[in-house]
Amino acid sequence: MRFDIVVSVAVLLMGMLAAHALSETASSTLAGPESFASIADPEQRSVALFAELGKVLTHPRCVNCHPAGDRPRQGELGRMHQPPVERGPDGHGLKTMRCAICHQGANFEPGRVPGHPEWHLAPREMAWEGKMLGEICAQIKDPARNGGRSLQDLVHHIGTDTLVGWGWAPGFGRQPVPGTQRDAGELAEAWVRTGAVCPTR
Ligand code: HEC
Ligand code: HEC
Repeated sequence: MRFDIVVSVAVLLMGMLAAHALSETASSTLAGPESFASIADPEQRSVALFAELGKVLTHPRCVNCHPAGDRPRQGELGRMHQPPVERGPDGHGLKTMRCAICHQGANFEPGRVPGHPEWHLAPREMAWEGKMLGEICAQIKDPARNGGRSLQDLVHHIGTDTLVGWGWAPGFGRQPVPGTQRDAGELAEAWVRTGAVCPTR
């Protein structure tokens, strides 16, 4: 019953916003690692690979869930989440307003509500919003700020994690992340193989 009410409110809000979301455009492809083979210097090649991967990392589908504050963002322009929700102690929301009240196990197309069984906010130390690509790079390499992951774990997470994968199948009215998740995993792997060098900015 409560979910029904929430969804009808959401449907109303979404009707107003969908047209706006659809009017946004962005590059929809990712270059494969082989496109960077002509860069002879491995350090420069590594930086170029990461810059390409940056099209994924800085995409609104990812940044909306890796925000600077305690509230998720929505849409192509990263506006504040409506209704107002907060991360709460575990990233799954406050006791009274859990993410899963609205975000189900899969996208709910009639209400245009995105979904995944593990839908919750990335921890504060994994915030990417408003950061330069070089800062994001340093941060996702740092086990103190990336959930204790090795570089190999990171490649695996980007290439296969299903919550990350939602970015390529975000449901009606949302721009998917460019390329495929597999492409992103391959870029991450090639970046690690070339020394995981970060851009300076
Ligand atoms: C629904 C919210 C959500 C979305 C959407 C999302 N993430 Fe995350 N992300 C998380 C959470 C939660 C964690 C922490 C998971 C953990 O540590 O087990 C995380 C962690 C990560 C990490 C590892 C830690 C780090 O260094 O930040 C990477 C990499 C990552 N996400 C990449 C992505 C990419 C790429 C996308 C978009 C294609 C994306 N995420 C979209 C919630 C999200
Ligand atoms: C009361 C219902 C409700 C609750 C609770 C809720 N959401 Fe949402 N959320 C929505 C609806 C509806 C949308 C789709 C609106 C849109 O995209 O414009 C949405 C969209 C989002 C998006 C945007 C996806 C994108 O890239 O456009 C993120 C991120 C998000 N929610 C995260 C969360 C997190 C994290 C929580 C828990 C802390 C949460 N939401 C709790 C209703 C809710």
